[in-house]
Amino acid sequence: MSSVTLDHVHKRFGTAKGVEDVHIHIESGEFFTFLGPSGCGKTTTLRMIAGFYYPSEGNIRFGSQDVTDLPPHKRNTGMVFQNYALFPHMTVFENIAFGLQVRKVSKTEAKERVERIMGLVRLEGYGERRIDQLSGGQQQRVALARALVIEPQILLLDEPLSNLDAKLREETRFEIKRLQLELGITTIYVTHDQAEAMSMSDRIMVMQGGVVQQIGTPHDIYHAPVNRFVASFIGETNLWTGTVVAVEGDEVQVRTSSGQLLCGLRKNASPLSRIAVGESVLMSIRPESIQESLVSEGENVVTGTVEMAEFTGACVNYVAQVGSEPLRSMSINLGRPIKQRGASIGMHIPKESIYFAE
Ligand SMILES: Nc1ncnc2c1ncn2[C@@H]1O[C@H](COP(=O)(O)OP(=O)(O)O)[C@@H](O)[C@H]1O
Ligand SMILES: [Mg+2]
Repeated sequence: MSSVTLDHVHKRFGTAKGVEDVHIHIESGEFFTFLGPSGCGKTTTLRMIAGFYYPSEGNIRFGSQDVTDLPPHKRNTGMVFQNYALFPHMTVFENIAFGLQVRKVSKTEAKERVERIMGLVRLEGYGERRIDQLSGGQQQRVALARALVIEPQILLLDEPLSNLDAKLREETRFEIKRLQLELGITTIYVTHDQAEAMSMSDRIMVMQGGVVQQIGTPHDIYHAPVNRFVASFIGETNLWTGTVVAVEGDEVQVRTSSGQLLCGLRKNASPLSRIAVGESVLMSIRPESIQESLVSEGENVVTGTVEMAEFTGACVNYVAQVGSEPLRSMSINLGRPIKQRGASIGMHIPKESIYFAE
């Protein structure tokens, strides 16, 4: 197990920028995820940690050891590639044992270790199968076993679930998390899927265009996104603009096109310095924090017209046009009648559920 530090790391490909100034410290035993859309620099950053790319600038440390210039085989990282990169003509056993052969581990020890790992990833009895005789999910587990059998200090996973269908993806998500907790191994996980990132990670680094946008726990990133990109990339949200008209203690009055909203300020989450009378602000309000109001007036009650009503059984989702802004809400079904398109609806926006972004 080892911590991983990227100290102001940059990577340029000729004139094209790969990633810019990534500065992170990943704790020993942490499950840390790089999250962002395709092309944002996740794989590039991961490959620098594995040693397949060298940084154009900056340093990489495992614990206190500077590994910036070490080749991959001297880093003791286990990597699962997006396409698995298994040897199709070799058996499951041979694929998993490969890294041990390269490291000159004796045959008896290799056999013992491969069998132990096959048990851990639930592949018992599959040793003699060829890779092309396996399902996608089984291939994924072979790739995982091959990375783990060398007992790496750090496990690196590049979109390991992207080739699986939705149901298997969910199951395998829990499998990977279970293994990581059981082994306590420092794990760096790459994905473009926010649900995957939210459900598995201790912390997430959100990237866009080669630039780190935010680093935080799933809770922080979801509830206190630092900008418009993060707010809309992580789940659904309502982004409303407004102008600050009063600041009183830890409460802020904001004028919006749909009326005045009272917002609570959180000491750590809000960019306090920018909240001042006359400033324009961007607010993020998650749909699940908004409730249909049975009264049409009151503090933080806005009224609008239903544009879309969706009944999923467990939930009732509305999109309402409120002033010039659409407002999405998502509530647990309490058995109330569902408002139809065109009906007038009151929505209550609790003041503690309004987060300032940007
Ligand atoms: N070997 C390479 N040569 C040139 N450009 C590259 C290379 N690898 C990645 N890039 C560029 O770096 C950026 C980040 O790519 P990548 O890290 O693969 O993104 P992601 O994994 O987030 O989809 C992209 O613009 C990509 O085109
Ligand atoms: Mg990638």
